[in-house]
Amino acid sequence: MIKINNLHKSFGEFKVLNGVDLTVEENKILTIIGKSGTGKSVLLKNIIGLLEPDSGTIEIDGIDATGFNEEEFNKLIRPKMALVFQESALWDSMTVAANIDLALQIQKHLGEAERKKRIKESLESVGLKDIENVYPDELSGGMLKRAAIARAIAMRPKYLLYDEPTTGLDPVLSNVINNLIKKINVEMGITSLIISHDIQGVEKISDYTAMLFEGKIIVTCGAKKMWEQKNQIFNDFIRGKIT
Ligand SMILES: Nc1ncnc2c1ncn2[C@@H]1O[C@H](COP(=O)(O)OP(=O)(O)O)[C@@H](O)[C@H]1O
Ligand SMILES: [Mg+2]
Repeated sequence: MIKINNLHKSFGEFKVLNGVDLTVEENKILTIIGKSGTGKSVLLKNIIGLLEPDSGTIEIDGIDATGFNEEEFNKLIRPKMALVFQESALWDSMTVAANIDLALQIQKHLGEAERKKRIKESLESVGLKDIENVYPDELSGGMLKRAAIARAIAMRPKYLLYDEPTTGLDPVLSNVINNLIKKINVEMGITSLIISHDIQGVEKISDYTAMLFEGKIIVTCGAKKMWEQKNQIFNDFIRGKIT
C-alpha cells in the first residue's frame, strides 16, 4: 500500500502540492485526474523519489521513504517501483532490447540470461514480439508506449506508475493501452497509479479515481461512482465543463 499524508512541495515561492492525502490500495488501479499544470507529475515524481517533498510522509508498505537518502531509497523502495514516463523516454540510439536491458542492469543481481528472458517475456506481454532489435524511432506511437510499458514490467515492480499513458494517442490506441494496463494489473497483480485525462478510460479500468486541485486531493471515489459525486469542481471537470 502507498499512503501519502499531508504532502507539501513548492518550487521557490510557488506552492504546487499543498497537503496531499492519498492512499493507493494493494492490487488496485487508482487514477489521478486534474487540470494541466496542477502538479500531478510532481506528485508522481515525489512518490518515485525523483523529487523530494518539503514536508509530509509517503509510506510505502508501512515505511516512510521521505527522509531516505539516495542509497536507502535505492535499496528499500526503488526496486518496488517503476514509472512509465509521459514521453515514453526510450533512448533512440539503442534498440528496444538494449533500452530494457539498461533498466534491468540497475538491478545488479540479474545475470545476462535472466535479463534476456525478461526482455522477451515483457515484450510478449505487451503484444510486441520480435521487435528486440528495432530502434524506438521506427515504432508507431502506440508501439512506443507499449515498449515503455514492457521496460517497466521487466523490472517486476510491485507498484507501477503511469504518467498520462494515453495522451496523444487516438481513441483506438488509447483503448489498447487501457486494456493493457488493466491486464497487467489483473494478471501480474501490479498495483497501479495512473495520471490521466481520459475519463472514459478512467471509468473503464480504474478501481478508484482522485482529483488533484489547487495542491490537494478534493475527491476520491470509486471509479464507477464518478457520476454521483457532489463536488462541483470534480463534476465540471469530468464533464469537460469550463470553469
Ligand atoms: N522541477 C521543477 N521546477 C520548477 N517548477 C516545476 C518543476 N516541475 C514542475 N514544476 C511546476 O509545477 C507545476 C505542476 O507541474 P506538473 O506536475 O508537471 O503538472 P501536471 O499536473 O500537468 O502534471 C507547473 O506549474 C510546473 O511548471
Ligand atoms: Mg504531467
